[in-house]
Amino acid sequence: MISARKTYIIANWKMNFTPGEASLYLHRLSNRIPAMRNVQVVLSPSLVSLQPLSLQINRRQFKLAAQNFYWQDYGAFTGEVSISQIRSFVDYAIVGHSERRYLFNESDKDIAQKVAAAIRNGLTPVLCIGETAEERRNGETSAAIYDQLIGGLSQVSEEDISKVIIAYEPVWAISSNKNARPAKPEDIKEAQLLIRRHISKLYGDETAMDLPILYGGSVNPSTAPGYLNIPGIDGLLVGNASLIADSFCAIVESAKGKYDER
Ligand code: PGA
Repeated sequence: MISARKTYIIANWKMNFTPGEASLYLHRLSNRIPAMRNVQVVLSPSLVSLQPLSLQINRRQFKLAAQNFYWQDYGAFTGEVSISQIRSFVDYAIVGHSERRYLFNESDKDIAQKVAAAIRNGLTPVLCIGETAEERRNGETSAAIYDQLIGGLSQVSEEDISKVIIAYEPVWAISSNKNARPAKPEDIKEAQLLIRRHISKLYGDETAMDLPILYGGSVNPSTAPGYLNIPGIDGLLVGNASLIADSFCAIVESAKGKYDER
């Protein structure tokens, strides 16, 4: 039987676009990307654009994701925004992105609290994990991935693990890093198997098979089809290439093509 697994294409716009620019860009994308049954396109603008875009989007066509939030639901936390304040605008929340881990010193404990807050507020956390270049050189990829999984999922029960998406984003492949180089499909295939093996130890075989795992790091229109064909890879998290309509639409098109061919 042909698998009915969904493919996720998540655009991480990072700290780009004013609300006006984001709105214009969304308008351009919405003219080119259809609502699809098997491909879920998720846009992650910066916080300030979430509310206006949530009024503009057709939720059958696109969903929104938060790039960041604070894990407490309310209280005296000057300058922070909680997920309970934005939950009506978004369906997904990116958690544990390497830029947050390494530029803003987010620990596995912070990340675990954010994963739990997202689930508590009815959202799907997209937990980003991945080894650094140094960890890879030292043969510590499996250990790094395991630690980030154990850490990030430490508050997730067996019942809730089905609400989580994992994004494998090796730090050395993310375009914002100096000397970034795209991961080879073999590397991604291997990491995806490692993740499923670790998840199987933590939550059992069935959960490990069902868990959506995405790849992110220097994805562009020419590499996307190959990545999407890796068995066990359920989609892509796209940074730079998601900021250009032609590139992003081409990536979405290759995800759609997977189903059209069947
Ligand atoms: P990139 O970013 O596609 O620009 O490498 C991916 C990410 O940081 O999620």
